[in-house]
Amino acid sequence: MTNEKVCELLNQQINKEFFSAYLYLDFANYFTEVGLDGFANWYKVQAQEERDHALLFTQYMQNNSIKVTFAGLEDPTRTYTSTLEILKSGLEHEIFITNSINVIYDAAYSVKDFRAMQFLDWFVKEQGEEEKNATDLIRKMELFGNDSKGLYMLDQELAARMYNPPSLVL
Ligand SMILES: [Fe+2]
Ligand SMILES: [Fe+2]
Repeated sequence: MTNEKVCELLNQQINKEFFSAYLYLDFANYFTEVGLDGFANWYKVQAQEERDHALLFTQYMQNNSIKVTFAGLEDPTRTYTSTLEILKSGLEHEIFITNSINVIYDAAYSVKDFRAMQFLDWFVKEQGEEEKNATDLIRKMELFGNDSKGLYMLDQELAARMYNPPSLVL
């Protein structure tokens, strides 16, 4: 039997991961509208990863006979004035997700739920990668995004990102 608080936090995380996908698709919409198709591609791939994360939490819960409940998603629409502003809010969002994973980990740790901790280990590592990716994007944009040729090259680079299924299999 999984601890009630841990169950509740796992269930809430599903919504946060689906919201991440929704937010990144909103970013992709902005980039499509301004003609930066590579940036749009990068965030569409990221949205697929986020959906995978949501499904991994769902699967983990169901494997452990925990009831899953889907809640409504928050409206992801924001008003952005620049590419850099979007990239920075992407990093901010990943830091928020990292904190959220840490809160679940802490709850699992406090009741010695070693199975949940082992499951969450993958996400702890994943969040390190997500924060690095978001930080790298900001740095590249700051270094190369200020003239149109540099921005064009960066957009081309981001156009090459391809979707890979998660390494975690449950
Ligand atoms: Fe995620
Ligand atoms: Fe990832």
